[in-house]
Amino acid sequence: MKFFIDTANLDQIREAQDLGVLDGVTTNPSLMAKEGITGRNNILKHYVDICNIVNGDVSAEVIATDFEGMVKEGEELAELHPQIVVKIPMIKDGVKALKYFTDNGIRTNCTLVFSAGQALLAAKAGATYVSPFIGRLDDISTDGLELIADIRLIYDNYGFETQILAASIRHTMHIINCAKIGADVMTGPLSSIEGLLNHPLTDSGLKKFLEDYKKGN
Ligand code: G3P
Repeated sequence: MKFFIDTANLDQIREAQDLGVLDGVTTNPSLMAKEGITGRNNILKHYVDICNIVNGDVSAEVIATDFEGMVKEGEELAELHPQIVVKIPMIKDGVKALKYFTDNGIRTNCTLVFSAGQALLAAKAGATYVSPFIGRLDDISTDGLELIADIRLIYDNYGFETQILAASIRHTMHIINCAKIGADVMTGPLSSIEGLLNHPLTDSGLKKFLEDYKKGN
């Protein structure tokens, strides 16, 4: 399972990278705005800064919602750095843009996916990644994990190579359950990744080991 961090915060990206388990980064316009990154040039520079911190894929989202606009913007994003994956929303022109980028060797991440049907379309169009938003489904009392399981089944039935990128991860249990289902990638905040570290028996066990060591030395 690949671990992506879902943030545009460079300090958090560095911290996750330093942990040694980071495989990539996802961003979106809201995450960019949260960090105060505004204006086209600043946003493009920020993507390059992120690529220079991590070794893996960095999703950069288009703002256009029409086919021509998405193609123009996506090509510009892809030119920025070889690690860039163009993030395209799951709308009709988005599906056409996914197919265009597939045919032209540009990697894509289909975002804002909330149903198995949308995930099937993204795979048919050749998306590199599909991003089902599980936390946002949970928010409206719909089981986000069930969607991950449905997409896994459908992709395995037909051998689709599109990678399931479980997005809108909110906590550690989301990661563990996505791993049990077989999501290829998860993207979440640093807290969800660091949450995997925690166990009270680890803390008390280490405390005892250190106390016993001190007794004998
Ligand atoms: O990057 C897309 C997705 O992960 C957003 O998550 O927490 O805003 O639902 P969230």
